[in-house]
Amino acid sequence: MANEDQFKKVISHAKEYGYIFASSEIYDGLSAVYDYAQNGVELKKNIREYWWRSMVYMHQNIVGIDAAILMHPTTWKASGHVDAFNDPLIDNKDSKKRYRADVLIEDYCEKINKKAQKEIAKAKKRFGDSFNEEEFVATNPRVVSYIQQQKEIIERMAKSLEAEDLADVKLLIEELGIADPLTGSKNWTDVKQFNLMFGTKLGASAESAMDLYLRPETAQGIFVNFLNVQKTGRMKIPFGIAQTGKAFRNEIVARQFIFRMREFEQMEMQFFVKPGEEMKWYEYWREKRLAWHLSLGLGKENYRFHDHEKLAHYANAATDIEFNFPFGFKELEGIHSRTDFDLKAHEKHSGKKLQFFDHETNKNYTPYVVETSIGLDRMFLAIFSNSLKTEELEDGSSRVVLKLPTILAPIKAAVFPLVKKDGLQEIAKEIVADLQWDYNVIYDEKDAVGRRYRRQDAVGTPFCITVDHQTKEDKTVTIRFRDSMKQERILISEISEKIKKAVSYKSWLS
Ligand code: GAP
Repeated sequence: MANEDQFKKVISHAKEYGYIFASSEIYDGLSAVYDYAQNGVELKKNIREYWWRSMVYMHQNIVGIDAAILMHPTTWKASGHVDAFNDPLIDNKDSKKRYRADVLIEDYCEKINKKAQKEIAKAKKRFGDSFNEEEFVATNPRVVSYIQQQKEIIERMAKSLEAEDLADVKLLIEELGIADPLTGSKNWTDVKQFNLMFGTKLGASAESAMDLYLRPETAQGIFVNFLNVQKTGRMKIPFGIAQTGKAFRNEIVARQFIFRMREFEQMEMQFFVKPGEEMKWYEYWREKRLAWHLSLGLGKENYRFHDHEKLAHYANAATDIEFNFPFGFKELEGIHSRTDFDLKAHEKHSGKKLQFFDHETNKNYTPYVVETSIGLDRMFLAIFSNSLKTEELEDGSSRVVLKLPTILAPIKAAVFPLVKKDGLQEIAKEIVADLQWDYNVIYDEKDAVGRRYRRQDAVGTPFCITVDHQTKEDKTVTIRFRDSMKQERILISEISEKIKKAVSYKSWLS
């Protein structure tokens, strides 16, 4: 319940402070489609930049591209999306609500997992420092049974989905007694497959129009350009191609704000490697990506790996980096070893060779691919929800503060004149005019300074700079830090350097 309340707070805060609006809200919105507002667009841009720099600038063998959203329709036949990009859906006959059958089963397993975690937490408390978690998990009969139950359920579901045995998926839901989470009804329809791609048309007349799809992932734009990039960039294996951009999926279950959207943005990187070396690189990218997440300081305990039992049609190994969202641990990023499936499939469907010529051996081969794929909007939600805090203060009052990682904050500094007279406004505006060359900064003169601080705390601005009468005498200002609320007196000439240090990519990414 507490988490539900926190999630509601996140959604309303995102709207109130100019981060996220429902799309076309004046027409009552569009389900699972959202607009990024004035602060949201900045946070999103900063996350994208943080990813891009770590991927492209920090790796001499990774380059970026920006492929079109609309692609030749055969792309999606080759990639398997036309035939296999389906979700198993199930309807509740009483509530008329539609669910993903696999998600219902996974949520059931998560409940079992929570029971196991509760046992572990209880034992930890009982045994204190002498507690050996590994041994407890392996030997405590209850925990062992919970883990076994989950394993059996997930294995059976994976097997049935793999074999397209949808009747067994329904049977599993019935055997487990899974009810509609909203109404408690167990009156289910059969499970059906539903293709998630949005169709559209290219061309002026109905007769000549070509059926197209809005891309459901950015990855295929990378695969079809593999040889173009390799040749023009003279890239040698191993090398990567990175891309950020919109993707579209007609999601069945889309009720978790920007967690599952119908139009969203991905940040993907395909790393082309020698066949046989893919597992080495898969391990490398698992660790590398987790390190990237940890660099933002949202707390190690909020991440975990979830290795896939059921592999996608193109993968020989896959894991998710899950994040502890307000509604529990869920997928934030996927790392897949995609074999040579995509390049081979595009070769077959296009009739064009998509191979690498190895000058050392004088032989061609089709590279294997390790992919890292993260949803920008999901990353936004992870950061935003984790950063939103309500703090009790020493004087008994409380404040709402958005403790965003400084490097990602939309507004780096707000500059205030203490009062609207005596030339203080002019000095504050001069400071803004100087800082805005390098940072997104704002000027604010409305309300008492205390209220202005609170406003910027809620927006997530890490620094507030106040110009007062002393500024006129000695060219100093107060700089107030969002997280500690401490204040320092510094020279105007020192402000820029102070911000620069706090938002250095070098210190954050290393
Ligand atoms: N190219 C591989 C691929 O697309 P995926 O697991 O389907 O793999 C990758 O998606 C990431 O994209 C996910 O980990 C998630 O962060 C994000 N994502 C997927 N579907 C999404 C949706 N409907 N809304 C928001 N983000 C989504």
